[in-house]
Amino acid sequence: MEVPRFLIILLLAATIASSEARLSSLRQGSSLKVEEESDFLVSPNGTFSSGFYKVDTSASCYSIWFTNSVNKTVVWMANRDKPVSRRGSKLTLHRNCNLVLTDGVGSIVWSTNTYSDAGVEAQLLETGNLVLINQEKMVIWQSFDSPTDTLLPSQRLVKNTTLVSMRSQGTYLSGFYNFRFDDNNVLYLVYNGPLFSSVYFPKQDKTIFDFKRTPYNSSKVAILDEAGQFISSDNLTFNASDYGIGPKRRLTMDYDGILRLYEIPTTSTLNASTGLWELSWLPGVDACLIHGLCGEFDICTYKPQPTCSCPYGFSLNDPSDGSKGCSPLFLSNDATKSDFMVLPNTDYYGYDMETYALGISFSACRNACLTDSRCKGFGYALDGKGQCYPKFFLRNGFHKPNTSQIMHIKIPKGFLSKDEVITKLETYDLNCSAAKVSRKTTAQVSEVEKSNKNRYMDYLIGFVSSFAIIEAICIGLTWWYAFQKHAHEEFVNMGYIALAMGFKRFTYAELKRATDGFKQEVGKGGFGTVYKGVLDDERVVAVKRLDGILRGDAEFWAEVSVIGNINHRNLVKLWGFCADNEHKLLVYEYLENGSLDRLLFSSDGELGLEQRYNIALGTAKVCHIYMRNA
Ligand SMILES: *[C@@H]1O[C@H](CO)[C@@H](O)[C@H](O)[C@H]1NC(C)=O
Ligand SMILES: *[C@@H]1O[C@H](CO)[C@@H](O)[C@H](O)[C@H]1NC(C)=O
Ligand SMILES: *[C@@H]1O[C@H](CO)[C@@H](O)[C@H](O)[C@H]1NC(C)=O
Ligand SMILES: *[C@@H]1O[C@H](CO)[C@@H](O)[C@H](O)[C@H]1NC(C)=O
Ligand SMILES: *[C@@H]1O[C@H](CO)[C@@H](O)[C@H](O)[C@H]1NC(C)=O
Ligand SMILES: *[C@@H]1O[C@H](CO)[C@@H](O)[C@H](O)[C@H]1NC(C)=O
Ligand SMILES: *[C@@H]1O[C@H](CO)[C@@H](O)[C@H](O)[C@H]1NC(C)=O
Ligand SMILES: *[C@@H]1O[C@H](CO)[C@@H](O)[C@H](O)[C@H]1NC(C)=O
Ligand SMILES: *[C@@H]1O[C@H](CO)[C@@H](O)[C@H](O)[C@H]1NC(C)=O
Repeated sequence: MEVPRFLIILLLAATIASSEARLSSLRQGSSLKVEEESDFLVSPNGTFSSGFYKVDTSASCYSIWFTNSVNKTVVWMANRDKPVSRRGSKLTLHRNCNLVLTDGVGSIVWSTNTYSDAGVEAQLLETGNLVLINQEKMVIWQSFDSPTDTLLPSQRLVKNTTLVSMRSQGTYLSGFYNFRFDDNNVLYLVYNGPLFSSVYFPKQDKTIFDFKRTPYNSSKVAILDEAGQFISSDNLTFNASDYGIGPKRRLTMDYDGILRLYEIPTTSTLNASTGLWELSWLPGVDACLIHGLCGEFDICTYKPQPTCSCPYGFSLNDPSDGSKGCSPLFLSNDATKSDFMVLPNTDYYGYDMETYALGISFSACRNACLTDSRCKGFGYALDGKGQCYPKFFLRNGFHKPNTSQIMHIKIPKGFLSKDEVITKLETYDLNCSAAKVSRKTTAQVSEVEKSNKNRYMDYLIGFVSSFAIIEAICIGLTWWYAFQKHAHEEFVNMGYIALAMGFKRFTYAELKRATDGFKQEVGKGGFGTVYKGVLDDERVVAVKRLDGILRGDAEFWAEVSVIGNINHRNLVKLWGFCADNEHKLLVYEYLENGSLDRLLFSSDGELGLEQRYNIALGTAKVCHIYMRNA
């Protein structure tokens, strides 16, 4: 049977159309359509492709991937948080040179917001960079400026760019792990979850100088070069295991919080049997130390994969997701009837009630936690140094084999039988006369210091009439100290400390949205104006926008750490902060029934003299701590 000629022509036309569809560039007025599987851009030598990538049976994201990987290895996405329908969506380069992604119903999902009169086309370069380039070969927009979770060779990580992990394996939504420069010009890895932020690289127990890194180069630029060397302006540098020109590589912030450098042989020598990426390098980040992996009370252990498990008496909130944490099986405890459950070789990172302390006896440490209703437990090291860490929260828990670190979790008395509660007080007590009280000791100051402080307090209390004044004094002092020690390394670490204390870092845009453009002013306090707002997760907050001197970096961190350290039961809780260039804001819990200011000013004596004194004492103690640390 003869095949009709028009069919042959149609078939031919279709073949030509599909081979032509692998475009080298997209011109003004043309589009790539989601339905056309072969409608995508390829780089000159074919290493990268860019088109619609299927993330789900019914949804796609406009992406760039490595052409020759078996399962497309995506290195960039235009709309990772807003996938578009597999029907009717398209990417169009408009005549005004705006590159626009529209979904099935024609609404705009993403665009480059570029405008130009001159002729412009979209090209995918051999480096994997999607660019809008004009006739003078000037790049007017490039995907390299807005990375998702991957950095490619020759792509620069700069001050306003962040690698953000995927939410989970195979989910392209933005997750919670970030790799970026902070205000101190240092690259760091941070878990930035909905409730708290926590830095896990570089490790917080040392200063950045101990890692041979520097906060003094403000150029904030890092690059992975073609030979596999990563270099950053803060002196963070590492090499691919097979350093040298040749293999294609990518540096990816993975969904599990680990930053990995992957590589494959060049396209011509691609491992044909698997086409897989091979892992080449992994920084010295211990998986169980990645914050946010396990939730509250959860303890991370290697089995051999990092696994979250609850301590005895607690149960997982979500058996499939350790990051949701554990809940106690007992009712919240009454301070007078509490006891401790002992977990050897265990530690929870951060949320210390004071800065760390040495030279504290076990019983003093235990007592400090027992008598404070905010204390959820304490860590105590049996190394003879008397390290005592009472904690507000038990988060970032991990098993620490071969250490003298012992965790004590507060439980109701009688919850465990006598045998179960291992409290070998005698063996824990250290030889106090031998222990040196460190510079950082705060839980126990010597008697002399105590009486001096009380005298100072008697003097201070006369003046104290409102929190604003205490705050002013405190800030004034710390500010002065900050100035004195401006370049001091501990100070340089302030930004980390704020994050390590567990405050959430907000962006200016988030807070602007939360407060509806700073509309509802609820008061003017020391150094700033307070606005009421509602966060995306519906928590009501008071946002304090700082003005004047506190907007300087050093002064701002001082305030964050002072207020953060106070965390006094009578004070408003600090939840987070924002430090976007000149925007400095603090985010507090919103108190419906009057602020502390009002409590302090009220004539009907809602706060007795003793309470006021305690607040003042608490505040002054923190000033004292801070000044010692600075
Ligand atoms: C493309 O491949 C050719 C031949 O292999 C090579 O000479 C050229 O440098 C490559 N171009 C790029 C941009 O990598
Ligand atoms: C590719 O993806 C599929 C589906 O996610 C998976 O089953 C398969 O193992 C993957 N192949 C490789 C080589 O990773
Ligand atoms: C970062 O800043 C550069 C230059 O100011 C700008 O071109 C780029 O779009 C910015 N990137 C992001 C993600 O804001
Ligand atoms: C940068 O790192 C190198 C090697 O790791 C070290 O020798 C050098 O002192 C560091 N520079 C600074 C400024 O810390
Ligand atoms: C800062 O870092 C950049 C990029 O690594 C480098 O070119 C420059 O020389 C550095 N500046 C100083 C003062 O070290
Ligand atoms: C990486 O390799 C280059 C070239 O061999 C060398 O100069 C550099 O010091 C290496 N860097 C590191 C961190 O090992
Ligand atoms: C290709 O992959 C297979 C399976 O992982 C491995 O055994 C082989 O050594 C690889 N070949 C090269 C050249 O890397
Ligand atoms: C723990 O200590 C024992 C004995 O000192 C030692 O043999 C073992 O290697 C240590 N384990 C680790 C993980 O350090
Ligand atoms: C306590 O420390 C002192 C001074 O180092 C030492 O003389 C004494 O023997 C120690 N006591 C005990 C019980 O270890």
